[in-house]
Amino acid sequence: MTGGAVVDVVGGQALQITSDHDGDVDVSLVIPTFNEAGNIADLVRRLHSILGDAGVSHELIVVDDDSPDRTWEVAAGLIDEVPTLRVLRRTGESGLASAVVCGWTHARSRVLGVIDGDGQHPPEVLVELLAALDERTDVAVASRHLPGGGVSNWSATRRLLSRGAQALGLLLLPGTVGRVTDPMSGYFLVRREAVAAQELHPVGYKILLEVLARGDIRRVAEAPYVFLERERGESKVRPLHYLDYLRHLMRLRVLPLRSQALARYLAVTLTALVVDAATFVWLFDGLDLNLTRSAALAGEVAILYTVLLLDLWTFAGRVARTALDRIRRLLGVQLALGVLLFGRLMVINALVNWFHLGPLAAFLVALAAMTPVGHLLGSRLTWRPARG
Ligand code: GDD
Ligand code: MN
Repeated sequence: MTGGAVVDVVGGQALQITSDHDGDVDVSLVIPTFNEAGNIADLVRRLHSILGDAGVSHELIVVDDDSPDRTWEVAAGLIDEVPTLRVLRRTGESGLASAVVCGWTHARSRVLGVIDGDGQHPPEVLVELLAALDERTDVAVASRHLPGGGVSNWSATRRLLSRGAQALGLLLLPGTVGRVTDPMSGYFLVRREAVAAQELHPVGYKILLEVLARGDIRRVAEAPYVFLERERGESKVRPLHYLDYLRHLMRLRVLPLRSQALARYLAVTLTALVVDAATFVWLFDGLDLNLTRSAALAGEVAILYTVLLLDLWTFAGRVARTALDRIRRLLGVQLALGVLLFGRLMVINALVNWFHLGPLAAFLVALAAMTPVGHLLGSRLTWRPARG
């Protein structure tokens, strides 16, 4: 086995994909691996033969994070047989998304791609993805959620988690996540020009999200695929990756916010919770108003507090529009949040009447459940921190 064919890469540096490319290679496909020694050989051979049969010139770039099972070494042993294979062994950093970008910075062709190294992404679909990437299209995604696609035998919990993550993404970044049926896909192609000028900051697992959010993407095409079961090795997904995903979404959402604006945003939204709850207690316990009235008035006070402070303080520097625009915007948010407040009153009453919760408990549950929705709604309608 040859160690010499392996390129050592030290992670942790900023990654910039340049626009230089070699017109002779049709596609550069990155295969991120961590402990895939039992899977990599099959996959590499199949990719090489499928792409060869289809007349697609290519390079396969394994990016291995210094796997304890020495996947990099197994891969390097294939280079004689598969001359289009290159192997990067990365140390000092790990993570699927950053491994993919790292591979792309070493890629030569105009079309960059990624496929899992464990055989769960059927390699034949690549040919369809390549065909879908016509002149006007910048990204071609293999999707589980198109007719003809699917997952093999996932538990209800895993399906729910996957769909839940997607729904959350849609809520936070509709313009990004809503462009594809399977934004969680880790199997896709992207034109180099669409990402070359952009600085990518890959977090966690979801590299497609980063590409769609930060790339300069015109059309997106999709092709269905069935996510196969793993035959060897194990998934590297950990509960922590769900947190990474949340962090990634938040980061893309508040992208252009300077840290001062972010601090102000958090200050307003968190103190609003206190204002809301304190007003409620004061009205309900202190002034003996009934439950619905207390919750309604407290909610309205909190809405005015939030909306005015965000507008006049948090986002003061960046929203210089006419007075009329401002009034229109504030009325719009007020109206939407008013509708939400109405929903909150129903929830509180239901909790008290049907679930026999105490008034304060019911109020707090409704507050915790519905305030985040309010902020999402508000940020969609108005100050819009990021594109999405
Ligand atoms: N270099 C590197 N570093 N590779 C990694 C790392 C890492 O830290 N973590 C995982 N990988 C590699 C795995 O070795 C495998 O080749 C691929 O990334 C996918 O990892 P899995 O752990 O098998 O993920 P999965 O099967 O649960 O999820 C896959 O399918 C999802 C649904 O389409 C991934 O492709 C997801 O990106 C995809 O969203
Ligand atoms: Mn997998």
